[in-house]
Amino acid sequence: MCGIVGVTGRMDTTQVLVSGLKKLEYRGYDSAGIYVNEGNGRDHLVKAQGKIKNLEEKIDGDVTGITGIGHTRWATHGIPSIENAHPHFSSDERFYLVHNGVIQNFGSLKKEYLSDVNFQSDTDTEVVVQLVDLFAKQGMDTMTAFKKAISLLKDSSYAFVLMDRQMPETLFVAKNKSPLLIGVGDDFNVVCSDALAMINVTNKFIELRDGEVVAITPDAIEITDENNRSIQRDPFEVDIDQSDTDKGTYPYYMLKEIDEQPAVIRRIESKYISQEGNVHFDEKLLEQVSKASRIYIVGAGTSYHAGLVGKKIFEKMTGIPTEVVLASEFAYDDPLIEKDAFFIFLSQSGETADSRQVLVRVNEEWQKNSLTITNVANSTLAREAQFAVTLEAGPEIAVASTKAYVAQIALETLLAVAIGRYNQRDSALHFDVAGQLSRVANAIQTVVDEKSQIEKIAESNLTNTRNAFYIGRGLDYDVALEAALKLKEISYVQAEGFASGELKHGTIALIENGTPVLGLITQTKTADHTRSNLEEVISRGANVITITSEKLQRDGDNIILPEVDEILTPLVSVVATQLLAYYTTLQKGYNVDQPRNLAKSVTVE
Ligand code: F6R
Repeated sequence: MCGIVGVTGRMDTTQVLVSGLKKLEYRGYDSAGIYVNEGNGRDHLVKAQGKIKNLEEKIDGDVTGITGIGHTRWATHGIPSIENAHPHFSSDERFYLVHNGVIQNFGSLKKEYLSDVNFQSDTDTEVVVQLVDLFAKQGMDTMTAFKKAISLLKDSSYAFVLMDRQMPETLFVAKNKSPLLIGVGDDFNVVCSDALAMINVTNKFIELRDGEVVAITPDAIEITDENNRSIQRDPFEVDIDQSDTDKGTYPYYMLKEIDEQPAVIRRIESKYISQEGNVHFDEKLLEQVSKASRIYIVGAGTSYHAGLVGKKIFEKMTGIPTEVVLASEFAYDDPLIEKDAFFIFLSQSGETADSRQVLVRVNEEWQKNSLTITNVANSTLAREAQFAVTLEAGPEIAVASTKAYVAQIALETLLAVAIGRYNQRDSALHFDVAGQLSRVANAIQTVVDEKSQIEKIAESNLTNTRNAFYIGRGLDYDVALEAALKLKEISYVQAEGFASGELKHGTIALIENGTPVLGLITQTKTADHTRSNLEEVISRGANVITITSEKLQRDGDNIILPEVDEILTPLVSVVATQLLAYYTTLQKGYNVDQPRNLAKSVTVE
């Protein structure tokens, strides 16, 4: 939520800031702004409501500088407007600040310190830049004033980049809970919320830890920790192919990412499975999980849905009872945690604040072992869990998650099989995971190759509906939840996923003449039951669409999925539902990649 960038050095600052913001647009698109300083007394502040392209349109050739900061906003405090767009500045226009996070005690700080100040925005952020100004006026140097302001923030999350007109080459940076990286260049340095933003100027990044404060000039990076100790930290290299961050010939990232899914499965196989079919993970990780009396899978949104599928796979392969929990709920629950519990965090971004809140409890309060499965190496959740493995899905840029869900289930499968084999369980020893995942990759390929048929189904059944329901049992119910989330979050069709047996206990009251009900039928044990439930809604006028695996197919079924092992069917059926959501949204004329009110990386609780 919110993306920030900063640049200092000998480069085309404005262009680097704007191109960085475009790569961070997935983090919010309510407004955007940049501040650049030419270093000769001239400076420029440009802000626009809405997307980065609106900002770009307002930037003319005069807007140049040697140093600058930029921001793309997902509104928390204050409506999306020019006044509330960052960078915010002090009343005397000396200090400029961009911020990602939430200042919880901004109201009391305003009352206590800034009652004389005429605020220009409704944001929590402006309080911080006005505080820096106040302390500078009391005689503190900029860094001391910045640190003093930060020391007053309670229970807050922030990644800040501050500029001072009187020190035009310096970026003042601080971080707590919100992600922030420093990119290292020759004759320049940059700051960004995500390496993606600056991968076209450098692939060397330094991670920042909570409580650290940094002064950055083109030639120096001075990090100090909360006890004012100087920190030396080597950069790490980020291995992202720049072409992975472009749409190429695709109209939207979402379609590109859906199409990439067979390749993602193959990449995961080649990273984690040897020629002989052995699954590789850190031995210590396997040893610890195999001893667990209970596994907790923690996630939010789509990652939570991947966890629901993972639970069934873990229990089948490992025999270890597995619970799936919603991070935002579990973070404040009072669960009874078993002595030998093991926690698995699923997070595409590795930055979700709700999940991180659970990890803090796991580390500090419950002191349990943990693993993060994430798409972003070196992300906060990856660093703070005891173990981390990467999804190998490549950058996922569309706000609606697709390939990360599939990659998460593939990784859960591999891990479950590895643990099951470690514990000599027959279900895992006899499961040809390499062969089965290869079949999945081929099956997904078949589904994406037949997308024009799915496009037609979307057009005739979903594009003009107000609501729709996905139903299924067992694994099909898990997919129904994800399918409904995908449809509603991008097409704004009110979609819900229901356990098909539950319809008669209340939900069936929603069925009207023509209501689309999409039935997922991939599980032999429950296929007939779901078909009966579909008959019940047909009798009440529903417009039924079926998504069925080949062996359970009947005349009149709509989308037929190639056969894979039953436990892995979610990996295939979900792709059909992703395409249904994609085409429905496209036909309704909405921006598929950037649905309203959403941001991809949710770094506030
Ligand atoms: C939906 C979606 C979200 C995320 C959720 C968790 O398409 O993308 O529901 O799954 O915000 O994000 P991560 O996986 O980054 O923790």
